[in-house]
Amino acid sequence: MDQQKTPLYSSLVQHYRHYLESFHVPGHKFGAIFSPKGLTFFRDILKLDATELTGLDDLHAPESVIAESQALTAALYGVNHSFFLVNGSTVGNLAMILSVCGEDDLVLVQRNSHKSIINGLMLAGAKAVYLSPEFDPEVRVPAHVKKDTIKAALEQYPQAKAVILTNPNYYGMAVDLTEVIEEAHKRGIPVLVDEAHGAHFTIGSPFPKSAVECGADVVVHSAHKTLPAMTMGSYLHVKSNLVSLEKIRYYLQILQSSSPSYPIMASLDLARHYLAMIKQEGINEITKQIQQFINGLNEIPQIKVVYSKHPEITTDLLKVTVQTRSSLSGFELRQQFEKHGIFPEMADAHNVVFVLPLAKDFHLDKTLKNIKESLKDVQSEGFKLPDIPDHPYGKIAEEPISYRDLKTYSQKVVPFHEAVGYKAATMVIPYPPGIPLLMKGETIMKEHIESIQQLIDRGARFQGSSFIFEKQLEIYT
Ligand SMILES: Cc1ncc(COP(=O)(O)O)c(C=O)c1O
Repeated sequence: MDQQKTPLYSSLVQHYRHYLESFHVPGHKFGAIFSPKGLTFFRDILKLDATELTGLDDLHAPESVIAESQALTAALYGVNHSFFLVNGSTVGNLAMILSVCGEDDLVLVQRNSHKSIINGLMLAGAKAVYLSPEFDPEVRVPAHVKKDTIKAALEQYPQAKAVILTNPNYYGMAVDLTEVIEEAHKRGIPVLVDEAHGAHFTIGSPFPKSAVECGADVVVHSAHKTLPAMTMGSYLHVKSNLVSLEKIRYYLQILQSSSPSYPIMASLDLARHYLAMIKQEGINEITKQIQQFINGLNEIPQIKVVYSKHPEITTDLLKVTVQTRSSLSGFELRQQFEKHGIFPEMADAHNVVFVLPLAKDFHLDKTLKNIKESLKDVQSEGFKLPDIPDHPYGKIAEEPISYRDLKTYSQKVVPFHEAVGYKAATMVIPYPPGIPLLMKGETIMKEHIESIQQLIDRGARFQGSSFIFEKQLEIYT
């Protein structure tokens, strides 16, 4: 297929150039009517903000330009079908889960998944068996689930309807999933991969191996995260005999707006075009420039660029994790950068993560100077990385959680000591290490409470429960 083409974007431009009058939604009439206050910035994008007009197709029943743009995307990624998503990987994760499991169906799920995965399981009313990831001592974050853990879970639960994995993690750490996918396929079990952060992996080396190449059945990409696409623009790809395309289509039309944004969809068309052109050109220049940037960062005494040393992990070139070597925490480092106008993607207790652009000539040398400048008055002595606490859970969760049952329970908040034996009505996610200590629906054990108490004493932060520091937990009754 001709990857130079941009069918959806080109049709929108064509329509804007030729229409005479708009008597349809949206109310801004291609920007002719708009608050003057916003026109300077909005004017151009409104020219593309159309609706399902003749010639512009319909996302939910595509026949012409959207169908063609999606087909070009599928061809580039080497899959049977690609769907454009206008509500992020969030909606892709929800739809892929709903399409493979229903109430009380058992699924094997990576424990450190994005909340959209957990929400999908809740909506489906599925039974989840959570698989714990390895903790990476260099980057000090949860990474992948070991092959052996997944294989053992497949042995233990041959009735599983799907394996749901997240690869890479937020820090760009990825593993080759081929072997575990083959193992699941031998049993007729599909593997769904949230590859939100890896839409560009299809380029190939030096990027990690893409989930599609590893044989995954469904793969979800936040195109907007690492490709030049508008926020929320994402793809869902299917290459499978085990998953129903029709079911995915059905859930996507339930979950996505009946008036999907044309600017977002056109940006997906253009992001695919951009990626296709880079793939052809090769990425040597981009690699060289990123390497120079990393070398420069490593000359700054207050920080160190960290990578996993795990032999199975490949780190995405576009994700650069800088760890503190100063008295500042990761959060404080980020503040320091922001004071100098540099806005990274995120920070944790030790690290700051930069998402680099998939582009050459992006003035990384100027960024490096600004980073140096922002840290010049920060002491590089006296840093101490805190210990990472142990956790009481096994690699494969002991009991499946039935989200169908949870829907019927009521909940209350009780002191820690009264919570033992009840099911948690909240997630408890300590940072570090960021692996959920308790999932909603897991039975609270004495060991959980002891761990939470130890973590509080050691100054950990928590996501999930709002009552932890009052020594209380939300439980189902
Ligand atoms: C691993 C992962 N999956 C899914 C999502 C949701 O993606 P989106 O923001 O495109 O809805 C995120 C968002 O950060 C994520 O990190």
